[in-house]
Amino acid sequence: MTSSYGLSGRAALVTGGTRGIGRAVAEGLAAAGALVCVTGRDAAEVRRTAAGLGGIGLAGDVAGPGHAEAVTELVLAEFGRLDLLVNNAATNQPYGPLTEVDADAWRRAFAVNVEAPLRLVQCAWRAWMREHGGSVVNVCTEGAAHVGPHVGAYGTSKAALLHLTRQLAGELAPGVRVNSVSPGLVRTEMARFVWEPGEAEVAAGLPLGRIGEPDDVARAVLWLASDAARWITGADLLVDGGTRVRAASTAGAYAVHDRLRGHRAAAGDP
Ligand SMILES: NC(=O)c1ccc[n+]([C@@H]2O[C@H](COP(=O)([O-])OP(=O)(O)OC[C@H]3O[C@@H](n4cnc5c(N)ncnc54)[C@H](OP(=O)(O)O)[C@@H]3O)[C@@H](O)[C@H]2O)c1
Repeated sequence: MTSSYGLSGRAALVTGGTRGIGRAVAEGLAAAGALVCVTGRDAAEVRRTAAGLGGIGLAGDVAGPGHAEAVTELVLAEFGRLDLLVNNAATNQPYGPLTEVDADAWRRAFAVNVEAPLRLVQCAWRAWMREHGGSVVNVCTEGAAHVGPHVGAYGTSKAALLHLTRQLAGELAPGVRVNSVSPGLVRTEMARFVWEPGEAEVAAGLPLGRIGEPDDVARAVLWLASDAARWITGADLLVDGGTRVRAASTAGAYAVHDRLRGHRAAAGDP
């Protein structure tokens, strides 16, 4: 899928690369000839994944003190360069209404989902990208456009990541492109609580008729990371099987319906 992406010899860092979307991205990058470093908290999984990719890895919490510096140093020491950064690791905790949210849990969501991507961009910029250029892809979520009853902290932090993407695209241009992907529902551990009980129902409501697979998102990430997207920065690419189209057309139809009703009422038509 990736032979034309020109990623051969590039060095890539994928946070949360041991399973799900990050793993598919790391595999796609390795298949395209990139040198790949993955992270994750489970050291055994990091070792196993890195070995399978012929790459390297560093175990640790992406929001842990000194982690961004340590993994950047490792990549530079092992690969001598850092061309591509994929900020993929995230937490969807805490659940529940924001009126009840615990301050530490709120800070943790922002530390993992927003601050860690920023720290990694800062480290990559200083260590390599400022001088040599590069490409950053942040993994956001289609859901950040909606109001979810139980995932307010997640959605708010991902909306912040979307804006961070645009802000950094402005600051780091022209040498470094910064973009994001916003996946819909994808078959991974993080979203199991959504798709396992309701896959058929969700799939039936989607224009493309199925939930996403990690590789569906990985293809978009690789494309944005590569020179194929050389004139794209600050963009968010929806990879959602049409979730937004269906949501927009449903909402739009109701809005038109309401306007027509109002118009007909004003015109005296019951
Ligand atoms: N699945 C979906 O439906 C969906 C939809 C929209 C957006 N997304 C986004 O897609 C991205 C990937 O999610 P996924 O669904 O692929 O999740 P996943 O299958 O649960 O994988 C998450 C990966 O991130 C690592 N990770 C989690 N927390 C970490 C931390 N604090 N520090 C370092 N590594 C950490 C995990 O390894 P360890 O647990 O060992 O640390 C694992 O490698 C996330 O940004 C998520 O918000 C997912």
